[in-house]
This record gives sequence, structure tokens and C-alpha cells, in this order.
Amino acid sequence: MYFWEKSIKMKTTEIRFLIYEFQSIGELPENDQLLIQEARKITAWAYAPYSGFHVGAAVLLGNGQIITGNNQENSAYPSGLCAERVALFYANANYPDSEVKTIAVSAANDGILVSEPVKPCGSCRQVMAEAEMRFNHPIRVILDGQDSILVLNGVEILLPLSFSKKDLASPNPSTGRE
Ligand code: THU
Repeated sequence: MYFWEKSIKMKTTEIRFLIYEFQSIGELPENDQLLIQEARKITAWAYAPYSGFHVGAAVLLGNGQIITGNNQENSAYPSGLCAERVALFYANANYPDSEVKTIAVSAANDGILVSEPVKPCGSCRQVMAEAEMRFNHPIRVILDGQDSILVLNGVEILLPLSFSKKDLASPNPSTGRE
């Protein structure tokens, strides 16, 4: 036991989330199946000559449009971008008034779908959190894999205690200014 756990004044918060797991794409509703198929399809056009890891993302917008994206690598490694951000930034650039309802992410190695559900990187989680916050609407996240598919009802599950616009606006205790 750590010394602070003995403090009677201490408040603890437990964060619990539900993660839905499916064994195959056929178990999901038709809309989700379609989105996953789009994410799988676009992995084929990923530009990933350095990692060989081909990721695809498909975003369903409130206006019914499906936007897809894939990872775009670069010889100057940090200049590349993940599939999720390619799709989300394109969606926001072209349909700024449409909320993101669902994002599906797939990945393939040598043209073969990865067996475990793909896990978005921290930066993509942060960008998803921003998209969610913009429209004050939880985004369903579908993480695709050959052996199992995970469905999360909200980005908070991927990124609890996230930094957001609200933190930028919180008053400074010493100056009282925002
Ligand atoms: N990548 C994605 O596009 N999305 C993810 O969720 C994980 C990683 C890409 C970045 C890089 O091009 C390659 O996969 C290997 O990290």
C-alpha cells in the first residue's frame, strides 16, 4: 500500500468502460459491416513503403457520407501521417458541419488482415477526441482484426482524462485570468 492510500481525505475515482467484442464481421450490424469493408479496402492503397504496415480508416459522417483514408509515410519519418488522421482531417476539411458518427480502422500486413484488432496511436486518439468534442457527440470506434473486432461507444474509452479546449480555458488560479 502506498502512503497516500492511507489518507482518509483522498478521493478515488474508478473509470469503467464497456468494450464489445465480436468474433467476425458478420456478427455486426450491416452499417458497421459496410464501414469495416471500406476500411479494409483502402488499406490496399496505403503508402507504407517503410513499415509495410497498411492501415485503412473509414469514417461515417452525420450526412451519410463515408470518408476513407490510409497511412501516408515519408522518407522523413515524422512527416508521415496515420490512416485515422488522414480520414478525419479530410472529413473535417470537406464536411466541417457534419459530425463523425463512427470510425472503423483496419490494418494489413502483406495484404493479409492483422489478426488482433488494430490499436490507434496516441496522436490519433487525441484527434478523435477533438472530433467528438467539436460536435458534442460520442464517436463509435470499430477496431478491426481477423480474430476479433472491438466496438467502443466513445473515444473516452481510448483516451480517458484527455486534454481538450476546456483545459485551455480553465482559469489560472494565481491571476484569475483565463
Ligand atoms: N499507423 C496508422 O496509420 N494507424 C494506426 O492506428 C497505427 C499506426 C501507421 C503509422 C505508420 O505508417 C505505420 O502504421 C507503422 O506505425
